[in-house]
Amino acid sequence: MTLQTANDGILIATIAMLLMAIFIIIFVAYYQQKQAQHQIMVKELQERHRQELMAAMFRGQEAERRRLAQDLHDDIGTMLSVAKMTLNQLERHLERYSPERAQAQKTRQLLDDTLKNVRRISRDLVPTTLERFGLLAALEELVGNANNDLINVQLEWPEKFDMTAPALDVMLYRIVQELVNNAIRHAGATHITIRFFIHEKELRLAVLDDGRGFDIDEVIQSKQRGLGLRNIESRLSVVNGHVTFDVAPGRGSRIIVQIPLENPKLVALLT
Ligand SMILES: Nc1ncnc2c1ncn2[C@@H]1O[C@H](COP(=O)(O)OP(=O)(O)OP(=O)(O)O)[C@@H](O)[C@H]1O
Ligand SMILES: [Mg+2]
Repeated sequence: MTLQTANDGILIATIAMLLMAIFIIIFVAYYQQKQAQHQIMVKELQERHRQELMAAMFRGQEAERRRLAQDLHDDIGTMLSVAKMTLNQLERHLERYSPERAQAQKTRQLLDDTLKNVRRISRDLVPTTLERFGLLAALEELVGNANNDLINVQLEWPEKFDMTAPALDVMLYRIVQELVNNAIRHAGATHITIRFFIHEKELRLAVLDDGRGFDIDEVIQSKQRGLGLRNIESRLSVVNGHVTFDVAPGRGSRIIVQIPLENPKLVALLT
């Protein structure tokens, strides 16, 4: 074997090994890329599944509320109305200014108050105005009911603001309902503002109050934490939205909700 032939052999072997090494590197890189793509796909599927479950849960919750509101209205409401009628008939047989008549009047007042409460609770459970007249009308009604001598609630709604997805309306209504209820129950606020606006292809909702504020970290860590704020986060996760708490003890709260509007998943998930 000549020196030339030996060198050729070494060269060929080196080239073959190099080619093999390149092939292995390309194969490993390709495999890793496939693996990463697969993981991204699995994550996307899991997220989609979670969102669908959450959307189904909230649909179920609305259906359950509707059933409760119907039972309350039809069964309890009707029974209370019949009881009131019977009491009215009885009252006619009682002597004027007698203690029995006074007692009957007191009972009627109690029945009236209970009937009013039943109506209020069923209205809160199923906002019929929302279904019939849309989000703006339902929010105006909510604001009207919340306003009184102690609390001033305002709704700021931009002109030419047209919300069309009914399920998104229900979500927004429930979020406003919770935030306004919180401001009334916990903040001791005298002014509450509900502001809707569009900002950078996002629907934004801000609920502001001038109450005592709170520590959000404390609330999150608290074992006796309520469901309201957590529900808002879960509702928003269905539409890739999120909520920001600009809050602190000793000053009014600003809670801002952001929902991306150009989200192709949004309509599919909500309808
Ligand atoms: N606007 C607010 N001002 C002051 N404190 C608030 C406000 N909103 C919420 N909080 C505080 O945050 C806590 C958590 O609110 P969250 O709505 O999650 O539960 P909750 O209202 O206590 O109960 P639930 O909503 O389940 O009836 C409240 O208990 C309250 O201490
Ligand atoms: Mg609450």
